Parts: sequence; C-alpha cells; structure tokens
Amino acid sequence: MTTIPAITPIPAPEPTTPGRATTDHTAPGHAAPGHAAPGHAAPDPTGPIAARAVDVVKTYGRGEAAVRALDGASVDIQRGRFTAVMGPSGSGKSTLVHALAGLDSIDSGQILLGDTDLGALSERDRTLLRRERLGFVFQAFNLIPALTAEENLALPLTLAGTRPDPVWQAELVQMLGLGARLRHRPAELSGGQQQRVAVGRALIARPELVFADEPTGNLDSRAGAALLTFLRDATRSLDQTIVMVTHDPGAASYADRVVFLADGRIVDEQVDPTAESVLSHLARLDAQVGG
Ligand SMILES: Nc1ncnc2c1ncn2[C@@H]1O[C@H](COP(=O)(O)OP(=O)(O)OP(=O)(O)O)[C@@H](O)[C@H]1O
Ligand SMILES: [Mg+2]
Repeated sequence: MTTIPAITPIPAPEPTTPGRATTDHTAPGHAAPGHAAPGHAAPDPTGPIAARAVDVVKTYGRGEAAVRALDGASVDIQRGRFTAVMGPSGSGKSTLVHALAGLDSIDSGQILLGDTDLGALSERDRTLLRRERLGFVFQAFNLIPALTAEENLALPLTLAGTRPDPVWQAELVQMLGLGARLRHRPAELSGGQQQRVAVGRALIARPELVFADEPTGNLDSRAGAALLTFLRDATRSLDQTIVMVTHDPGAASYADRVVFLADGRIVDEQVDPTAESVLSHLARLDAQVGG
C-alpha cells in the first residue's frame, strides 16, 4: 500500500517575544495559526507555509506558438490564511494555482506542499495527495454532467470510498443556498448554481488546502459575499488554507493577503487589503506594466 505523504507544514521560527496586540504584522506571535483570532487577523509572514512555488516556469506549446505562462513564479502560501491571487487576464493565475495543486506539470522550478516536493512524487501519489489533501474549484467548474448536484458535491468522498459528514454537508448546502437544487444535474443549473456546487465539492472533504479559481465570478453580490465570508471564517475557525484567484478587488479584500501576478511572475503583494487599496495597487501595476 502506498503511503500518502502528509502535508507537514514548514515550521515557523520560534517567537522570541510573547504575542501582543499589535498592528505590526511582522511581530512574532501575531495571530498564531491554529488559534483563530476574532475579527480580521492579518497574516503572520513568519507563520508556517502550506505551499510554496520556487522559480516555476511553465510553457504551453512549442516553437513560434510557445507561451511562457509562468516565468519564474515564486510564492509562499501561509497556512491557515486566505490568500488572493490577482493580475491581468493571461498573466498566469490559473496556471499558477494548477501548478500549486499538482494538476499540471511544470518545466522547471519546484512546488512544495508542506515539505513534500510534488516533483518527487509519482503521478499516482500526486493524484492521491490531491484527492486526500486538496480541494480545487475550477474556473470552468468541471462538474460531472451525468451526476446530480448532490452527487457532484459528494464526489471526492465517493471516490475515496466514504460518505460526507451529514452535519458538514448540511452546513455547506445551506451556506451555498443549494437546498432546492440538489437533485438537478449541472445542465439544469444556472452558472452561479454550478459554481456553488463546485465550491461545495472542493470543501466537502475538509481538505487542508483549498484552491479556488474565480469562485465568485458567476455569483450575484449577495451569494458572493456569503461565500467569501464563509471562506474567510473557515481560515479563522478551522485553520483552513485558501488560495483564491479573483479579478474583483471587493472579493480580494476578504483575503489576508493579495499577491499580484504579471507576465507569469509575482510582482507585488499586499497584506490586509481593502478594495480601495487593491484598486490603487492594480492601477499602479497597470501603469508600470503598460508603460
Ligand atoms: N492549455 C493551454 N495551451 C496553450 N496556452 C495556454 C493554455 N493554458 C493557458 N495558456 C496561456 O498561458 C497564459 C496564462 O494563462 P492562464 O490561464 O494562467 O491566465 P489567467 O491569468 O488565469 O487568465 P484569466 O484571468 O483570463 O483566467 C495565457 O497566455 C494563456 O493563453
Ligand atoms: Mg484563469
């Protein structure tokens, strides 16, 4: 039997001073993961790392048609935090989260989940690790057409030979407002409803790390806010690690940290973002990249 490597977090340096109330996010002891702080806790850059990309290069196609989707992308994803990924269309956001989740091969560089090097795993072990430890909300939903919403929701557990925890499933279904649609197939659901099923499917098995590629892109503002609040609360109360791609500064403002991609690289980041601060950041980046 194959042993699935656990995602052991890369340990944080020991704090040298006791935790204290502060707005200095570099201070040791600030909102230690595992001890969810009330309200909006800012990320601790010294906290344990759930996932890491090091100098990742990914090229699609060959020769004249080759596109360098990732061009030396490096990023640390802190455990128990909500990280947003932003950047222009085509900047490599989906490629980056696919690479971090082990869904796509990379040309060079390294992807670490905890201290597991994805490149060192066999295809089979990578698949098992993904199934057991990761949740992924695809930009294109990727629901199974022949299954009902409820069956799609439970799929990761069905594949693993288990069943959803009914209390957790009920909580998800209620949060996602899917109660009345559970027996319908994807073709009978609106785009927003399909997206909510895809989110539920990513969360049903309570994976350690959830990647969501524009999970609010098809939701109205109320459903979007409910989902974002739920995701943020999951990082606080369940120590859930979440990485979300978004184009929406309002959605990004729910995150603890935003990283900005341009031309396949992380070019900037912002801690404790607000919609306004993200907007002005994006405008500055546009001016730099465009100019
Ligand atoms: N399967 C593929 N084959 C060829 N090129 C691809 C493929 N997938 C992505 N690309 C290219 O790689 C680059 C990065 O694509 P990616 O999907 O990561 O961008 P993105 O930032 O997620 O964009 P969007 O905001 O539009 O979703 C783009 O130039 C895209 O055209
Ligand atoms: Mg994308």
